[in-house]
Amino acid sequence: MKVIVGVSGGIAAYKAAELVRALQQQALDVHVTMTEAAQQFVQPLTFAALTGHRVLTSLWQDADHSNPDAAMEHIAEAQSCDALVIAPATADLLARMAHGIANDFLTTLYLATPAPVLVAPAMNVQMWEHPATQANIAILAARGVQILPPESGALACGMVGSGRLADVETIARAVVATLHRRQNRKQDMAQETVLITAGGTREPIDPVRYLGNRSSGKMGYALAEAAQQRGARVRLISAPTQLQAPAGCAVTPVLTAEQMRAAVLEHLPQATLVIKAAAVADFRPRITAGQKIKRSGPITLELEPTGDILSETVQRRLPGTLVVGFAAETNDPLEHGRGKLARKGADAIVLNDVSRAGIGFESDRNAATFLTESRAIDLPEMSKRALADRILDEVLALRRDKNLLSEVGAMPTRRAPTDRG
Ligand code: CTP
Repeated sequence: MKVIVGVSGGIAAYKAAELVRALQQQALDVHVTMTEAAQQFVQPLTFAALTGHRVLTSLWQDADHSNPDAAMEHIAEAQSCDALVIAPATADLLARMAHGIANDFLTTLYLATPAPVLVAPAMNVQMWEHPATQANIAILAARGVQILPPESGALACGMVGSGRLADVETIARAVVATLHRRQNRKQDMAQETVLITAGGTREPIDPVRYLGNRSSGKMGYALAEAAQQRGARVRLISAPTQLQAPAGCAVTPVLTAEQMRAAVLEHLPQATLVIKAAAVADFRPRITAGQKIKRSGPITLELEPTGDILSETVQRRLPGTLVVGFAAETNDPLEHGRGKLARKGADAIVLNDVSRAGIGFESDRNAATFLTESRAIDLPEMSKRALADRILDEVLALRRDKNLLSEVGAMPTRRAPTDRG
């Protein structure tokens, strides 16, 4: 398994060499990326010699502007690693991470990776205790970054207090534990056959034009990948996207809302869970022109409504099939979400507030509210891949509640959402 050690510019940077060694002793393939400041403390050559890999120090390292692979190296690294551990993490690096500033290789990698991220801060005690640093730590922890707090003791600056890099063995153990958790992630969806819709449908106006929307399909594809990795059989019914289908998922490509409807209804009898992440056109041109419409002054497009696939799925499902819809709202999201849940009869609605900047459409990150008849569970901003797992956690919790309800014929006692972590 591949672990990337990110080194930022503090005196504890030299300890990263010991961390690399400790991780290698766990039979991990360790790669290193350094910030510019880190290179003032330790030479990249040290890490290159230890790891046998080139040390990544800059987004523009190869300066080969004709090589697209070099330009995309941060993405390739982000996708290929199993964990990113940043040790030491300086106050500056924590601030940049917390605020999404991606101005070097390490911070870009952090934003781009779906892998678990651990940070081990090290700095002067006053810098560590400063409200700005503590606020940044809180932001990162809320996003699922694992914080390995500094230890107390004599610091390089001559002061005594909290700020010393956590023990290297402690950091290595935390990395190994995280990898194990990830690898042994329960195959808790082995009993499920999941039908997922994704992407934005296209309704042709003429042979060259269509009515579309901004959906990238990323959320639906992340859900398909997560469900597949948790042992489910997955069929992805996909409107056009730029994405590669996750390995192991069956894919039915579709173009229009009507084609999506037909594909969903065809596969519905086998499904135990349907997740409708697609952005489906609500209207289509009443007539599709057989030839390209020529520019000749104003024209009027007559639109007719498409069928509501979600509502039809709810009506036609077999007993026991759970149906989860999505709702993208720009205003009064909770109110509209609740209305949609009731109107469509779905078991849950994943509610996206698409008026928020930086998340949702086209982005790799998202935040949502998982809305059921009785609860509204806040899923804070995270990568779409991490959010996919959180959504599936909630779907499985809902399934357990419904099973319990049908067994005992009474309302079960629900745990607080935080109980499930
Ligand atoms: N949906 C569907 N068929 C449609 C339109 C939407 O199945 N023709 C599904 C979407 O896949 C999504 C959910 O319904 O899971 C909510 O989509 P949304 O467009 O937010 O709902 P609408 O009913 O179209 O409501 P609105 O008036 O807000 O557009």
